[in-house]
Amino acid sequence: MAFVSSGYNPDKPMEGRISDIGPRLYKDFLPPVLEKNYGKWVSHEILEPGLLVHEAESGDKVYTVRVGSARLVSTEYIREACEVAKKYCDGYIRWTTRNNIEFMTTSLESAKALKADLNGRKFDKGSYKFPVGGTGASVSNIVHTQGWIHCHTPATDASGTVKVIMDELFEDFTNMRMPAIVRVAVACCLNMCGACHCSDLAVVGFHRKPPYVDHEYLDNLCEIPLAIASCPTGALKPGKTDLADGKKVNTILVNQERCMYCGNCYTMCPSLPLSDKEGDGVIIMVGGKVSNRISMPKFSKVAVAFIPNEPPRWPTLAKVCKKIISTYAAEANKYERLGDWAERIGWESFFEKCDLEFTHHLIDDFRDPAYFTWRQSTNFKF
Ligand code: HEM
Ligand code: HEM
Ligand code: SF4
Ligand code: SF4
Repeated sequence: MAFVSSGYNPDKPMEGRISDIGPRLYKDFLPPVLEKNYGKWVSHEILEPGLLVHEAESGDKVYTVRVGSARLVSTEYIREACEVAKKYCDGYIRWTTRNNIEFMTTSLESAKALKADLNGRKFDKGSYKFPVGGTGASVSNIVHTQGWIHCHTPATDASGTVKVIMDELFEDFTNMRMPAIVRVAVACCLNMCGACHCSDLAVVGFHRKPPYVDHEYLDNLCEIPLAIASCPTGALKPGKTDLADGKKVNTILVNQERCMYCGNCYTMCPSLPLSDKEGDGVIIMVGGKVSNRISMPKFSKVAVAFIPNEPPRWPTLAKVCKKIISTYAAEANKYERLGDWAERIGWESFFEKCDLEFTHHLIDDFRDPAYFTWRQSTNFKF
């Protein structure tokens, strides 16, 4: 008997339960000081880059050291992080959804020793294993997606692009000298697992060719009606074709004119791959934010319509990101987010100052027609 659906008693949820399916109560994982002061925190402050203090009503303090992780990490790396947590944090460790690691301690002394220890741990080639930073007016750790290494629909790599962008911006990850926080995100396809809609600088993988149809496999593994239904533009229809050996098979026919390269069909059917060396690349979006300081929260907008994939170092992408961020850093007022700055100086000036070309591809971005997104008007004064 694996699961009993009758006689469940909510007061005794574990009664009679014979498996450990489902997560344990979150409180089992909280450091004692967090459990004790749960919901009773009064203030927090950033003491120095990467180091925060939270104070509770009881007077208890928690010092947090924030570390950027690469997200796709080895078990060896996780073990080392756990060793650090054992040494300084009674074995408690926290991974945030933005791929940061948070080490929490209750004394400033131990937090400082922890920070120094983390900064001293390097990979053989000299890069930081546990880079401390990403707090306050700095470049955030890049929230990113799974890329070529793990996902099925990417138009670009996530880890590779993140690494090259972060190599450009790293000094501003470990310092807090930006006008305001610069949230950076990478999503490797339009599914946008990576929060690009609400980030100051975002890179999104982009396909530019319709799916290639693998007729031989399709007939054997595809739920044809399901794949057809998945296409938002009605570009797919059922059909028949002859294989090289003369065999007639059921298949899917693609109306190439109608395809918008979204990849929905490929999610349904692996015989409709979309990835293509020339077709795939990235776009850059800017100016999104969640905060309502200075102006309302904003969705980001497409500022560069296409940059080809240039692995392993994506030099064009890295250069454009660096240019946008360094121009913003030099010109924005204190507390202005990237989108606030661009709106104040006018998007025409943003494009000019960042050496970006305004093309017709930017008139409609993914979400809204231009009259919402570009200052209510498409009348740019170039
Ligand atoms: C069958 C489909 C999917 C599989 C097998 C899958 C698998 C995974 C895996 C293995 C991870 C952890 C990756 C890592 O940390 O290295 C992950 C994380 C994540 N996935 Fe999925 N995923 C799927 C679909 C999706 C979809 C459709 C979305 C968004 C629309 C999504 C959003 C995310 C996000 C945001 C994370 C990161 C969570 C974090 O940062 O802690 N996933 N997924
Ligand atoms: C109406 C739609 C959405 C709203 C209002 C929304 C809102 C938010 C907000 C408020 C945050 C926190 C941002 C921050 O930390 O600065 C966030 C983060 C995030 N969102 Fe969305 N979101 C939406 C749709 C999506 C979608 C469609 C995806 C992916 C498929 C997504 C993925 C993420 C991820 C991965 C994060 C980062 C989480 C973290 O850092 O803790 N969001 N979103
Ligand atoms: S953004 Fe697209 S390609 Fe990247 S992990 Fe998400 S679904 Fe996969
Ligand atoms: S990529 Fe999108 S638009 Fe093109 S055929 Fe597939 S589902 Fe339709």
